[in-house]
Parts: sequence; structure tokens; C-alpha cells
Amino acid sequence: MRRSVLGLMGLAVILAIAMPAAVRSSERAERSPQELFAARCAYCHEAGGWGTRVLARRMPEGEAQLRQRTSLPPALTTLVVRRGIGAMPPFTPTELSDEELQALAQWLAEEARPRR
Ligand code: HEC
Repeated sequence: MRRSVLGLMGLAVILAIAMPAAVRSSERAERSPQELFAARCAYCHEAGGWGTRVLARRMPEGEAQLRQRTSLPPALTTLVVRRGIGAMPPFTPTELSDEELQALAQWLAEEARPRR
């Protein structure tokens, strides 16, 4: 009896240590493009953000905010995000995996579709 109680406690301790790591890695794999944009890009690329203000200097009205673009090819986004552009820093595959970047670029391109 005593043995199995100790065994259970041991199992509980192991689970307590192992679970958060398991939860974290599944969260990472399942980050949606919306979540990634909100976490990594929005603070510069939403209205009033630094990226939006810099782009407003060279983009027509309404095109400076990435999600309001009428056209934003995924290839442009993946290139810019990996290389950086002007004042925008590059993102490494650790920060944003290739799959996540691909999905994000695709989602942004669809967000940026012409609206009528
Ligand atoms: C620290 C602020 C910052 C963050 C974070 C940031 N950007 Fe930028 N981004 C900029 C700035 C500033 C520019 C304009 C650079 C220039 O032209 O000098 C820019 C430009 C771009 C452009 C080029 C648009 C064009 O037409 O030239 C794309 C695409 C872009 N960012 C996508 C993203 C994505 C996607 C993310 C998130 C993964 C992101 N950026 C995160 C600041 C940021």
C-alpha cells in the first residue's frame, strides 16, 4: 500500500515536470497565422505602429498597413521576414519556423485581397 502511494506520488511529480514542456511544444506547433501576426508583427504593422508609419512614407494611402494592402504576395513577405528590410529586423527560424512563416505569408496575402 505504502509503496503504491509513493509510486503514485512519483508519477505525479514526473507528470508535473513533463506536462508544461509538452503543452508548450504543442502550443508552438499550433500557433495560427493570426496569433503569430499578433505576437510578432502587429506592434509594428497595425495602425499607428512604427512599421506602418515608415511604410506610409513610400506607400499610397491605405497601403501602409499590411493587412489593408490590396496585394501582398507571399514571396515578398517570406523574403522580407527572413532578410529584414530597412529598419525591420530579420526573424530567425527559431522565432518563426519555415512552416509558420509560409502560413503567415499566405494568410496575410488573403487578408490583403482587394476589397470592394
Ligand atoms: C520592429 C518593428 C517591426 C516588426 C516587429 C515587423 N516589421 Fe515588418 N517592417 C517594419 C518596417 C520599419 C518596415 C519598412 C522598412 C523600410 O522600408 O525601411 C517593414 C516592412 C515590412 C514589409 C515590406 C512591405 C513593403 O511593401 O516593402 C513586410 C512584408 C513586412 N514588414 C512584414 C512583416 C511581418 C510579416 C512581420 C512579423 C513576422 C513584421 N513585418 C514584423 C518594421 C517591423
